[in-house]
Amino acid sequence: MRKKIKNKVKIEVEIVNRPDTDILNKIINIEKESFGIGAIHEWVLAPFILSSKVIVLKVNNEISGVSIFIKEFEEDCVFYFTLALLKKHRGKGLGKYFFESSVNIIFEKFPKINKIRYTVDPENNFNNEFFKNYGAKQTDFFKSIYGEGVDRNYVVLTRNDFYENITF
Ligand SMILES: CC(C)(COP(=O)(O)OP(=O)(O)OC[C@H]1O[C@@H](n2cnc3c(N)ncnc32)[C@H](O)[C@@H]1OP(=O)(O)O)[C@@H](O)C(=O)NCCC(=O)NCCS
Repeated sequence: MRKKIKNKVKIEVEIVNRPDTDILNKIINIEKESFGIGAIHEWVLAPFILSSKVIVLKVNNEISGVSIFIKEFEEDCVFYFTLALLKKHRGKGLGKYFFESSVNIIFEKFPKINKIRYTVDPENNFNNEFFKNYGAKQTDFFKSIYGEGVDRNYVVLTRNDFYENITF
């Protein structure tokens, strides 16, 4: 768990240990606001909390961001399923802080993990640049992976590249 006070705002980043109703609802709210039809629901989120790693960003005790990592069968790899922030908190540097804190938790707590894979919208320059800043490399491209016309780049971020480019 990491704690930080920024301009009198209390910021915490922590792993969710139990799928309690209140936590599920708050995370699903962030998902819906960020991904619409692609948002996950309780039947997906609860198993992720139990079997994978769901990390939340709290701003003044309010759950305001979510990161979800799924363990892959390849021993040294996790899949970064979600990174999202409530709209009202975007564009102020919190996304970057939360991304770095989340990935740092995974690499620190799990020394065998050396790679984080995820999919990125090829048309969304912001997201592409956001991840490339950490040395992430594109390894593949999937056409219509999330439905007709919803293409994604497949990207990998290594432990070494991450720690060379981290900013906090
Ligand atoms: C992706 C996301 C978490 C980023 O969080 P954020 O708080 O908006 O980002 P930050 O304010 O930390 O900005 C990070 C960097 O991007 C830049 N940036 C922020 N908003 C931007 C925008 N709309 N266009 C271009 N650059 C932008 C910032 O200037 C900063 O760059 P810097 O480090 O050079 O200063 C957030 O936008 C989000 O939840 N989006 C919806 C869900 C999503 O698309 N998730 C990612 C794919 S799963």
